[in-house]
Amino acid sequence: MKISAPKGTRDILPAEITRWQRVERVFAETCANYGYQEIRVPTFEYTELFERGVGDTTDVVTKEMYTFTDKGGRSLTLRPEGTAGVVRAYIENGMASLPSPVRLFYDITAFRYENVQKGRYREFHQFGAEAFGAEGPAVDAELIHLLQQYFTRLGLKQTSLHINSIGCPVCRASYNDLLRDYLRPYLDTLCETCNVRFEKNPLRVIDCKVERCQAVTKNAPALLDNLCPDCAEHFAGLQQHLKLLGIEPVIDRGIVRGLDYYTRTVFEFVSEHVGTQGTICGGGRYDGLVESIGGQPTPGIGFALGVERLLMELEAQELELPQAPLLPLYLAPLPTTRDATALLCARLRERGIGVATDLIGRSLKAQLKYAAKTATAVIVVGDTEVETGNAKLRNLSDGSETEVNLNDLDTLAELLKK
Ligand code: HAM
Repeated sequence: MKISAPKGTRDILPAEITRWQRVERVFAETCANYGYQEIRVPTFEYTELFERGVGDTTDVVTKEMYTFTDKGGRSLTLRPEGTAGVVRAYIENGMASLPSPVRLFYDITAFRYENVQKGRYREFHQFGAEAFGAEGPAVDAELIHLLQQYFTRLGLKQTSLHINSIGCPVCRASYNDLLRDYLRPYLDTLCETCNVRFEKNPLRVIDCKVERCQAVTKNAPALLDNLCPDCAEHFAGLQQHLKLLGIEPVIDRGIVRGLDYYTRTVFEFVSEHVGTQGTICGGGRYDGLVESIGGQPTPGIGFALGVERLLMELEAQELELPQAPLLPLYLAPLPTTRDATALLCARLRERGIGVATDLIGRSLKAQLKYAAKTATAVIVVGDTEVETGNAKLRNLSDGSETEVNLNDLDTLAELLKK
């Protein structure tokens, strides 16, 4: 029986890998310019980390986690996102003693049991960054500028930045009362889950995807209009920093984000092209998260960018994406020169040249057909070529030929590197 890939997963084939490599490389370079260093954390963590970190009233934790019990009876979960694991690693490895702010970035796969659709998968990729130890809005602006710079380097246009503030525990508590007062008359209309959210964490009702709940929350009071003075000052400071950097955000009272750890600044980069899944990137501040996972109180902020959605956006904007490169050389042997050609191929590879030769006994005609599809140049290695060393390097795109000496591989290697 044929076995297919699990629903919601995708193979990334060689034909598209150069695009992935490019966005990965430019992301790493951009992060390095801003002083962010790469961190790699485990693919699975103890389930409790996500329950405590991401929040047990979120869709991610209640509905979407891939949780399993291992042979030792421990409950483990494939990470649904990167922040909780990075915070755990920050605490566990004593990174709080490093010069502050500690700036980290990552390139990970994440797993969520979601309804699969365009731009929404069960295994997907995120590029993310987190900064620990800076409380003021300057670091919020730094991360947003980093993202904007990254998009610019990729040539991406038409993504808009939406920002909001969802306050701190102080303003959240009085806002929750206000929101409950607003929602109470609609409890019969709200979905079952939102009735639970109403009690436990009413802010989550605003994030509900059920249409009738969205109709109710459309006119709900916004947290942004009910911030405490400190949070209001922080948000005003962020706007000033963004202005200084020439960044014009859309103030979007509707952004509450789908994860529980956020405080104050939240933001998203949204595109018109990625269908209903228009959010390419989301992030925000999480000043209480380090402490809630067992560390010292430490402010933190970060973002994660959906790589599949980013690539969809690049494609939709018809930006030129690199194609898989061809090999610089194919060596075509005749039946009598197979050993000599195999050795030649090995010697060139040892010099760092990308080269292939026949491994399956193809005819010369079939080899040349193969070479035309996979390489930029070919050398036919016949008996004379082996005896004299004199051979012709044929450029496969324009048919031009260059005399080369197979006994002088350093010169040939230099020529092929050009
Ligand atoms: P998030 O909004 O849940 O935030 O995910 C970030 C991005 O990951 C989304 O904007 C989207 O592009 C992508 N994404 C999420 N789910 C899927 C999916 N099922 N399929 C494809 N792409 C998806 C976080 O994960 C936070 N950890 C971000 C953060 C970092 N906040 C602070 N630091």
